[in-house]
Amino acid sequence: MSEHRTSDHRTDVHRLSPVGELLRDRPPMVRVLPVFEADGAPAEPGPLFVDWLVNALEAGVLDPHVMTLSTVDADGVPDARVLVLRDVDAAGGGWVFAAEADSPKGRQLALSPMAALSVYWPLLGRQVRVRGAVEPALPAVSADEFRQRSPGARIAALVGRQSEPLGSLAAYDLAADEAQLLLDTDPGLVATGHTLYTLRAHEVEFWQGDAARRHVRLRYTRTGLGTGRVAWTSTLLWP
Ligand SMILES: Cc1cc2nc3c(=O)[nH]c(=O)nc-3n(C[C@H](O)[C@H](O)[C@H](O)COP(=O)(O)O)c2cc1C
Repeated sequence: MSEHRTSDHRTDVHRLSPVGELLRDRPPMVRVLPVFEADGAPAEPGPLFVDWLVNALEAGVLDPHVMTLSTVDADGVPDARVLVLRDVDAAGGGWVFAAEADSPKGRQLALSPMAALSVYWPLLGRQVRVRGAVEPALPAVSADEFRQRSPGARIAALVGRQSEPLGSLAAYDLAADEAQLLLDTDPGLVATGHTLYTLRAHEVEFWQGDAARRHVRLRYTRTGLGTGRVAWTSTLLWP
């Protein structure tokens, strides 16, 4: 039995492993953070998200448009990975990302088209959580977006087989060379499964961290679902 167990069931004593020791006394967000005046927040979450995203860009947060997409698989087991936020439909409450339909996440979304997006901007101590239904764009729209991508991005997508076991890196290089050849022959070629998805939020939470733990949380909930009308209510949450 490892001597680095984090809890000892025989004595009910909690002991930190060396990793736990490394992490102890490193509270997050010990820096000057913005004050979130939730009273003055917009009536809808889209514009507030755009504000916070622009704040993150201006503050120098690295990759502020990289978010975690969480889905569930066929057994109901959660899965998560990071991906790039491509656009925001601020008025319609839509968060847009691109992915391969024939990938684990694409198959999970086909089976269960609900997902969560989450982002943390460390320099600002801000988190945003978005939950909702995910809808794919029309194939022609996804194809058009694909053709606007850099050649490198198109080649990577054309290689395909995402998340399948890879025998060797040389096998990848060979497949990339083949994809490059195909693209040279037909510059309009589109990876068949390339898909733009929009997560239509039904719930969005803005979380402003505070070094003294007086975090401010504001959750927006969409009302009138299914009516085609976008309306929101909001409430503060206990931290
Ligand atoms: C910074 C960063 C950005 C990424 N952007 C995307 C993206 O926009 N779309 C995508 O499909 N995968 C993106 N990935 C790769 C995914 O995290 C993931 O490895 C891949 O999509 C396979 O996920 P899956 O097996 O759950 O389908 C990105 C990874 C990183 C680290």
